[in-house]
Amino acid sequence: MYKQFVKPLLFKLDAERAHHFTFDNLKRASRLPGAGALLRGLYNYQHPSLAREVFGLKFANAVGLAAGLDKNAVLTDELATMGFGFVEIGTVTPRPQPGNPQPRLFRLPQDEALINRMGFNNDGAAAVAARLARRQNRQLLIGGNIGKNKDTPNERAADDYVAAFEALAEQVDYFVVNVSSPNTPGLRELQDKKPLINLLQQVQARNLARPAPRPLLLKIAPDLTDSQLDDILEIARETQLSGLVATNTTIERGGLATPAATVAAVGAGGLSGRPLRARATEVIAYLHRRSQGGLPIIGAGGIHSAEDALEKLAAGASLIQLYTGFVYEGPALVSRINRALTKG
Ligand SMILES: Cc1cc2nc3c(=O)[nH]c(=O)nc-3n(C[C@H](O)[C@H](O)[C@H](O)COP(=O)(O)O)c2cc1C
Repeated sequence: MYKQFVKPLLFKLDAERAHHFTFDNLKRASRLPGAGALLRGLYNYQHPSLAREVFGLKFANAVGLAAGLDKNAVLTDELATMGFGFVEIGTVTPRPQPGNPQPRLFRLPQDEALINRMGFNNDGAAAVAARLARRQNRQLLIGGNIGKNKDTPNERAADDYVAAFEALAEQVDYFVVNVSSPNTPGLRELQDKKPLINLLQQVQARNLARPAPRPLLLKIAPDLTDSQLDDILEIARETQLSGLVATNTTIERGGLATPAATVAAVGAGGLSGRPLRARATEVIAYLHRRSQGGLPIIGAGGIHSAEDALEKLAAGASLIQLYTGFVYEGPALVSRINRALTKG
């Protein structure tokens, strides 16, 4: 239904308008009597064999929604109805910010890809925490993806991550430190060894001082070299991380079917979707091999089919996340993957 009727309509709209249109209508529809049951009947596939425990949390299934789609946690109840095992909200910054000027989200349909330079547009940590406190579904696990405000210099970045962490700590089940978005100037420099250790140590110190510390993960870019990935593993050990999210969007533009002039006209941003699949899997496999399977990995990047999901799990991911595949394939992708997993 989504691919035949809904997607052609949505793809006629500007990409960001389509996003808001979908969110508004899902929210409105979910208030109608019977809508939850209908959505659940259409999309929500459950099976006891899908459950898995990762970093001490019990997931109903391994298929999650990647950060960036429900940045402000407005749709977690509806997303739970669609069968996701977990939803990562954010990236949330301590203070609200508007993000980059529009247009900032672009489709490359020939490549089943997106390019975005949203720039952490979000309502701020306090507003998001208050919204999460009001959610109905308490079974769905929530990840809190945190970042720094654009106008905070990198020297003070750790303060922002700590502030966002503190604001959300009661409301989320695990945390992801995002230093891998290409759309906040200078953010990726925080992936370097020294600033990254400092940042993670500060957040982890606050976390471990709490009565119930949350699993703390780091989200990394697919554009890191092998030696940078080795550094990440060393830092993860040193700062007692519970896992990694691999990967964020890429700044690479190689091998696209979309004409180079069209891609160039889009400009800067992170590329996601099918063209990212192989590199994201390579990064997961590398991390899994080098850590001898000792560090759980949430795999993301170009999962558009059950086969793509199985590939990520075979490479060593313990859980997977969807974003661009969900936009191109629709909500049926979640149950398609989960059905395939019961067969595996
Ligand atoms: C429009 C858009 C916005 C995103 N925003 C965020 C974000 O705020 N924080 C983050 O960690 N990742 C963000 N991502 C990255 C995704 O979470 C995911 O890591 C990446 O898109 C690769 O998965 P995919 O190929 O399935 O889309 C965003 C991706 C897209 C397409």
